[in-house]
Amino acid sequence: MSPHLAETTRVSCAAREIAFVSELAEPLVIDVDTGIDDAFALLYACAHDEAQILGVSTVVGNVSLAAATRNTRAVLALAGRGGIPVWPGAATAMSIAAKDASEIHGQTGLGHAVLPEPEEPSDTLHAADSIIAAARSHSGRLILCATAPLTNIALAVMREPELPRLVKRFVIMGGAFSEPGNVTPSAEFNIWHDPEAARIVFRAFGGVGGAPVIAIGLDVTRKTIIDESDIAAIESRIAGKPKGAKLTSFLEDASRFYFERMEKTIGKRIFTMHDPLAIAVALDPTLVETRRAAVDVETAGRLTTGATIVDWRGQWGRLANAEVAVAVDADRFRRLFFDAMAGLAEGAGDRTQSRLPRSDL
Ligand code: BDR
Ligand code: CA
Repeated sequence: MSPHLAETTRVSCAAREIAFVSELAEPLVIDVDTGIDDAFALLYACAHDEAQILGVSTVVGNVSLAAATRNTRAVLALAGRGGIPVWPGAATAMSIAAKDASEIHGQTGLGHAVLPEPEEPSDTLHAADSIIAAARSHSGRLILCATAPLTNIALAVMREPELPRLVKRFVIMGGAFSEPGNVTPSAEFNIWHDPEAARIVFRAFGGVGGAPVIAIGLDVTRKTIIDESDIAAIESRIAGKPKGAKLTSFLEDASRFYFERMEKTIGKRIFTMHDPLAIAVALDPTLVETRRAAVDVETAGRLTTGATIVDWRGQWGRLANAEVAVAVDADRFRRLFFDAMAGLAEGAGDRTQSRLPRSDL
């Protein structure tokens, strides 16, 4: 047995888990503010063997940092992946006057769902430093996906300006490019919650040799919608499977809250799959069509703070820093999502990944 494997095995035994580190899997770090759709995104990622989730970093956004961290731990445990490290990060945004999204996600962040208290402790190293460590040790290979305000990523790129050249791909759920916003007429929640951080991130990525920001904004996420008939279809598909019952009650209870809120706010009982689409694109960029352009963020508008401004016509004369998603294969994405839930119910997540030694990040 190689020393590396011996170490992995020892650590995993301590965590009472079976080591699983596929050599072919792509290293993935997810930054979340777990909320309902972040939870669905985490479940999606956990169902995919082609991703080796090195860790999940958490940030204030939909709910407080503490609630986001707890929810993340609980959802990973539900997926049978309780050993994945969780790295708490920023408890406050860089910008002032942010408010949470508990109106949409509920006081706990998971709607009507109640999950068991997670057992695993969270890591003590700050999310930004953990992201940097992961990017350095998987230089040129790491996929980084943020489904939350960009505070942790901004802190990471301020501490390690090479980050855009260390990652293979950087996908965010964020922005409203040719669509109205969802918090204000011009701003999408993740950007609006911390526009200063978003501006730092957009200005740091792209350019010469740097990964661009692959921006999955409302323009495409609003095309990936599920409703209660889809939840019912998933439920009948996973009924009787080893983890079908637990997963069913989570999907049902979490999404019901979202349907209720949407009915109140826009009059339709729909669930927009913002964060699951971003994760799906992180694993398979062919799901969306993108246009390369320069993007910047309004941080001091009287009406437009948090707006993502895209220079489609090259009027700024700046290098492109983003690939903005403009179209999505929504049918294929929906099928992938349903298949992922079916896989999880079969126990896809159960070949639990060991808690990797920090040296292996
Ligand atoms: C984004 O805002 C949050 O409420 C969701 O989790 C998603 O990341 C959508 O605008
Ligand atoms: Ca989110």
